[in-house]
Amino acid sequence: MQSLTFNNNDKMPILGLGTWKSEPGEVGKAVQEAIRIGYRHIDCAAIYGNEAEIGKALEEVMQAGLVTRDELWITSKLWNNAHAREEVPIALKKTLADLRLEYLDLYLIHWPVATRPDVIFPRKADDFFSLAEMPLNETWAGMEDCIESGLVKHIGVSNCSIKKIEELSSAKIRPEVNQIELHPYLQQDEMLSYCNVNNIYLTAYSPLGSLDRPDVMKGANEPSLIENPVVGKIAQAHSCSAAQVLLRWAIERGTSVIPKSTNPGRLAENLEVANLKLDNQEMAELAKLEMGFRYVNGEFWTMAGSPYTLTELWS
Ligand code: A2P
Repeated sequence: MQSLTFNNNDKMPILGLGTWKSEPGEVGKAVQEAIRIGYRHIDCAAIYGNEAEIGKALEEVMQAGLVTRDELWITSKLWNNAHAREEVPIALKKTLADLRLEYLDLYLIHWPVATRPDVIFPRKADDFFSLAEMPLNETWAGMEDCIESGLVKHIGVSNCSIKKIEELSSAKIRPEVNQIELHPYLQQDEMLSYCNVNNIYLTAYSPLGSLDRPDVMKGANEPSLIENPVVGKIAQAHSCSAAQVLLRWAIERGTSVIPKSTNPGRLAENLEVANLKLDNQEMAELAKLEMGFRYVNGEFWTMAGSPYTLTELWS
């Protein structure tokens, strides 16, 4: 499997296993099966509520000698309620304890959105801190502290606009990754160019359209990525699945991609994109599918009275 190489020569496998929405009782098995068949990159987050099960699974495969820690790339993310500088290492240590690891390869600020420490998911305006009250560069200083303590090898952000990344440009350590929603309906070309110029890797989340999102996060009449006829036609030409075309599209653009699955057949299918190749003509056809459509649109941060708006979040 191809990988993306960082300045210090560390390598992140370009395809990783997503674990958002992977259910308790299933996620550990999925991680073990993934590692058994060759996945070496696992994408986690504290808010997914499954890091303890993943940690047990990782410990077991390492103890069984299937893989060593240095062969794995493990990412996790800081939740919104721990954005104060001094809270960041505390949150990281909880994640490390749950994952049963001594360090992370990559730690990301999950959202440029802050809430009060006792709030897991905000329900009212009062649950939030605005970015004026809790500036992102304070949180970033906490992330840099995590690098300095050796508990994390690389740091980055997620769901950040170019403007937000620019706000961190005076930092000692610049973000090395931005993990964002990316697929043919939301190609984010300007972001991709910006990141290419600035030595930042993009990781594509929801590459298959995250059909298993909770209903409350779904809009009416969402377009289906997997059933898109252009994607289907290209899949047919390669005798592969629509999902494989979507994953390969991300890799052809030099972004890493983290499809979630807990199904052994689909885990294998997704890994097989290493052997697929899309030509320029096919990439051009897929480029035409752009419609600026977000499956994860961030509306859950913008309830009445919230200091966050969609315009501010994405612009
Ligand atoms: P499952 O876990 O049962 O395989 P995303 O990565 O965009 O969030 O999408 C995850 C959703 O896509 C899950 O519902 C997952 O289901 C499904 N999925 C994962 N791999 C494939 C595949 N190769 N073909 C079809 N659906 C897939």
